[in-house]
Amino acid sequence: MSTETVTITDNTSGKSVECPVRKGTLGQPVIECQGIAKELGMFTYDPAFVTTASTESAISYIDGENGILLHRGYPIDQLAENSTYLEVCYLLLNGELPTQTEMADFESKIKRLSLLHESLINFFNGFKRDAHPMSMLVGVMGGMSSFYHEELDIYNPEHREMCAMRVVAKMPTIAAKSFRYLLGRPYVYPRHDLNYVENFANMMFDLPNRESTLNATAVRALDIMLILHADHEQNASTSTVRLAGSSQANPYACVAAGIATLWGPAHGGANEAVIKMLHEIGDVKNIPSYIEKVKDKENPTRLMGFGHRVYKNFDPRATIIRKACHDLLEQLDAGDQQPMFQIAMELERIALEDEYFVDRKLYPNVDFYSGIILSALGIPTNMFTPLFAVARSVGWIAQWKEMIEEPSLKIGRPRQVYTGYAARDYTPIAQR
Ligand code: CMC
Repeated sequence: MSTETVTITDNTSGKSVECPVRKGTLGQPVIECQGIAKELGMFTYDPAFVTTASTESAISYIDGENGILLHRGYPIDQLAENSTYLEVCYLLLNGELPTQTEMADFESKIKRLSLLHESLINFFNGFKRDAHPMSMLVGVMGGMSSFYHEELDIYNPEHREMCAMRVVAKMPTIAAKSFRYLLGRPYVYPRHDLNYVENFANMMFDLPNRESTLNATAVRALDIMLILHADHEQNASTSTVRLAGSSQANPYACVAAGIATLWGPAHGGANEAVIKMLHEIGDVKNIPSYIEKVKDKENPTRLMGFGHRVYKNFDPRATIIRKACHDLLEQLDAGDQQPMFQIAMELERIALEDEYFVDRKLYPNVDFYSGIILSALGIPTNMFTPLFAVARSVGWIAQWKEMIEEPSLKIGRPRQVYTGYAARDYTPIAQR
């Protein structure tokens, strides 16, 4: 525990308070500010929580300046290179990499839990045929709360474990079912002879009259995409899951709240925007005029999939996914989609050489490549965010578990600066 303090002084009253400085293993220290309210009678103001740490966490760590992302201490590039999404799930949930026996046991339990209750499958029939798949994910995940009453005591470690395993096991089945529902294709049950990602791909693409067309490179690209999105500190959806969980709501409802937050274009929708932009450009010959538009200060157009709020030098996830993306595109035959990929590769080349992008450190980010990969896999754009949700579900539930396991769980309750009317008297309707 650090003994450093920071003195905060109210220059009007002359009162001061000593605030302890708290330090984690890595990253900036934080000032504990509860004393400010107690001693100075003031709250702190930090819209969008940009400089506020809301919790301690040992799950993931980002160093934006140096392009570092750690999951339980392991660099994301080492995990993407050597691990699988399911092993990363184990790591995030349990804090350590599994032994062979632990991994085999985990995988077998996940496989057993991957089936959906047939009544839960019926939920899908209530959705309009053209419903956005994220609405199905929110609804069906929330609906899971009504299926497992006997294992919903959040203070029972075994129940928490089961909830976490169910979320990881069933999210691909729910996402694949929503995809099939959209296309009017028959539901494909999970298979025990396939690994987690192969099974997910099979549930999405298998047809009664032909087998899944995804080859090993494509499955690996999907696996890498899932690994890269598994967790990312206290982002908006993760913070939502924690805030919902702080009220002791059940974990399926909390994860549904996370899915709802991810749905917003400012969070999970950027890869979809990349594909829309590539279609809008339409042809390699239109790139120069598009780039001019992007550079024009009078024009709000931005190059989607470039730049990052936190990673200012490079996004470590983008370096990894770029290779998977290039490998996958090399394997593609010159089909209808090829012009779109040519545009993408040309944009990437320009952005890595053009002064405007180089000076501002605007590199292609993870969404640029994940959009292209998912599109190359034949996944429609409205399924991009659901795939992100599948990947992030382990992060949400691991963070939920970590929070519940803290000895002093407190309901989250931010303050406000009230700017409305001061108290005034009610006027009867006839006198208004
Ligand atoms: N295209 C063109 N110019 C850009 C872009 C872009 N994508 N991004 C930033 N700039 C320019 C911006 O105009 C500004 O120029 P100047 O200094 O001349 O005024 C400079 O770069 C700095 O921009 P900023 O807005 O201060 O940067 P920011 O950190 O606030 O924005 C961002 C980060 C991700 C919102 C932004 O780069 C952007 O809008 N990118 C496109 C959308 C996108 O790809 N979003 C996904 C991000 S990854 C999400 C994840 O982690 O999953």
